[in-house]
Amino acid sequence: MEKIHLATIDVGTSKICTLIAQVESESAIKILGVGIEPSQGIRKGMVYDIQSAATAISKSIRKAERTSGFQISDAIISVAGSHIGAINNKATVSIMGGEISNYEIQRVNDAVRAVPIPSNRTILHALQRSYVVDGVEGIRNPLGMFGRRLDVEAHIITGATATVENLKQCVLTNEIEVDSMVLNSLAAGEAVLSDIEKQSGVLICDLGAGTTDLAIYFNNDVWHTNSLPIGGAHITSDISQIFHLPASHSEEVKRIHGSALPEMIDEEEFFYARSFGRDESAKYSRKELASVIAVRVEEIFQLVRQEIKRSGIDHILPAGMVLTGGCAELPGIDRVASRVLGFPVRIAKPENLTGMIDQLDSPAFSASVGLLYWRMKTEIIVDSQMKKADSGEAFAKLKRFFRMLFP
Ligand SMILES: Nc1ncnc2c1ncn2[C@@H]1O[C@H](COP(=O)(O)OP(=O)(O)OP(=O)(O)O)[C@@H](O)[C@H]1O
Ligand SMILES: [Mg+2]
Repeated sequence: MEKIHLATIDVGTSKICTLIAQVESESAIKILGVGIEPSQGIRKGMVYDIQSAATAISKSIRKAERTSGFQISDAIISVAGSHIGAINNKATVSIMGGEISNYEIQRVNDAVRAVPIPSNRTILHALQRSYVVDGVEGIRNPLGMFGRRLDVEAHIITGATATVENLKQCVLTNEIEVDSMVLNSLAAGEAVLSDIEKQSGVLICDLGAGTTDLAIYFNNDVWHTNSLPIGGAHITSDISQIFHLPASHSEEVKRIHGSALPEMIDEEEFFYARSFGRDESAKYSRKELASVIAVRVEEIFQLVRQEIKRSGIDHILPAGMVLTGGCAELPGIDRVASRVLGFPVRIAKPENLTGMIDQLDSPAFSASVGLLYWRMKTEIIVDSQMKKADSGEAFAKLKRFFRMLFP
């Protein structure tokens, strides 16, 4: 079988992760090359120094190319940050002859995507939900159905044009075309959510260094998204402030000795670190460290709770929250989240990959891997909705769609 090659760049606040992968079937991905580099010039998910960000991205790309033996010419990239906005839009058409044809479907699809947006904003995604025929909801393909009225809603995600262009520019500087941009939370969701969760109602939360990226799925559709400008960097900064430690020490202390549950830590547990103004390391209480972390973690999930309430669909989350991102590595974070949000929380990381997967075995790489799944899925859905094609044909279309990067 002919193989498709894809390249993705997850531009995070703490790390850049380039993946070069081979799509082997509709659900099987083989990772051929991985390039993980510390991020530079990115704050809270957004570029603030193009030169530094472009250099970090370049190092990540070259590493992935070296490890895979392939050279890339275009890539799918992640996008996040407080510039992201979203609205839900609705459109309706009347059915002339009683039977829904491609013409009516196309008209309603065009109408729901035609949202007036300010000139300084760019549409990143226009995610259509299921159709409603004469009030009957949840219809995936209304072609050939009888009715008088066809409704559809779409979740339209936008970004600040300047911020989006700056990010693109960092990639273009490396002579790599931006194939498409995918919201971080949607990428993470694609990597770790099950179909049952997306059908029942679930919140995906990607808690990274600079952003907390959220998406609510219900009935297999996306209902709400947001990117909150808060993350693990705030926890690290709190540790620096309270214990007077340099940022790099605080990061290490958090990763090695941190916990979000002070009640689980013994009074007698200590760690050693060298604070500003001291020549030697001093002894600190792990319980005190966990107390500092717990305050910030709780605040983050309080903000998540507010966001769920703001969505207006807080009653449809039986599957609770799935937590990914590097901060999901913090011991006890799922218990704090569950306590604050009042529903089940599970931690997830990318699964079912083959190839060079050792470095990707962490919740931090859910969005990086999810960029690949998102691209595969969206093309297959578009194809099957438009042509009622079987999955084999859809996959063949996907293969044609992606330019072959390599011979
Ligand atoms: N073992 C650990 N314990 C606690 N925190 C951790 C651990 N491992 C990673 N983190 C934290 O996770 C964060 C990095 O997560 P991630 O790699 O998902 O972020 P990112 O993708 O670079 O940033 P963003 O998506 O927010 O722009 C950092 O704040 C880091 O300190
Ligand atoms: Mg991230």
